[in-house]
Amino acid sequence: MSRSPSVLITGASGEIGHGLIARLAAGAARPVVTLDLNPLPPEVAPRVRQQFVGSILDTALLERVLAEYEVDRVYHLAALLSTRSEFSPALAHKVNVEGALNLLEFAQRQGESHGRPVVFFYPSSIAAFGLPDPATKAKAGRVAEDEYNVPTTMYGANKLYCEHLGRYYARHYKQLAAGPATGRVDFRCVRFPGLISADTVPSGGTSDYAPEMLHAAAAGTPYDCFVRPDTRIPFMAMPDAVDCILRLTAAPRAALTRTVYNVGAFAPTAAEVEAVARAAFPAARLGTKVDEKRQGIVDSWPADVDDAAARRDWGHAPRYDFAGCFRDYLIPRIKTRYAGATS
Ligand code: SER
Repeated sequence: MSRSPSVLITGASGEIGHGLIARLAAGAARPVVTLDLNPLPPEVAPRVRQQFVGSILDTALLERVLAEYEVDRVYHLAALLSTRSEFSPALAHKVNVEGALNLLEFAQRQGESHGRPVVFFYPSSIAAFGLPDPATKAKAGRVAEDEYNVPTTMYGANKLYCEHLGRYYARHYKQLAAGPATGRVDFRCVRFPGLISADTVPSGGTSDYAPEMLHAAAAGTPYDCFVRPDTRIPFMAMPDAVDCILRLTAAPRAALTRTVYNVGAFAPTAAEVEAVARAAFPAARLGTKVDEKRQGIVDSWPADVDDAAARRDWGHAPRYDFAGCFRDYLIPRIKTRYAGATS
């Protein structure tokens, strides 16, 4: 039990959670409590005060967390990713939408009980966009937040709707005074591009081809990329994604002109990712076998995003561009991780 201000991370066993817990625990400003269907990996578990193993759909479990902790920061990372959601759309809706609503209600009630706003971080995605055809995608270039909000996937529709739910709680539901955003839930959201980590591999996403190609090249296992070589979407290194979360949640509320921000870093084609993977791991066995369904999903995502608002309002400034991400972060760490695998 801790009545001192605490942090709750849902989906903590996932890729972003892995990176976020390490950074939050290093700062140690607030005890970290986690909620995930799966137990935390053993190297991560000692960094948190308590882990609850269970579902975000289990409201009795959320009641327990509410009773035991005074949470004033929520990082709601739990979700089914885009490819997985296309196979089980009704389940995706349940987890991605009902789950997010449960957490927003949790934050509202926490805020009402301790009297302070609860900063609520929500990772949305480039999947919230939907470009109708490749010609429009090529012409659109860097897409701004309020353009092409017509997602073609269940996951994208879930993310876009949850952005609206968050804005509703932050700006319209039970406001304490007239004026902008005086509610108990201080909702802050970024639309992440595809994320690439040296330490973990994703599961069930559609941007997974880039990290999968690189990790397979390093491990020396054969891999067929499931999108065409000319496919282009934005990506970001995981440490920059965690920086985005920390910067946005630390920003003064008054500096934020939006609840939802695009964030970008670099936007390579699949062929460009393959080329750097091959250069670093010459024994790589990489090919291409297009999966039309997944190709269709990435074709509906923008080639790049306009993140001027994030740069202006809260100082988004990714440290890795495409070359630097591979040269300084991914390749050296991945080489260590798979050392011996290809020999
Ligand atoms: N990277 C995620 C996916 O591919 C998108 O948010 O599903």
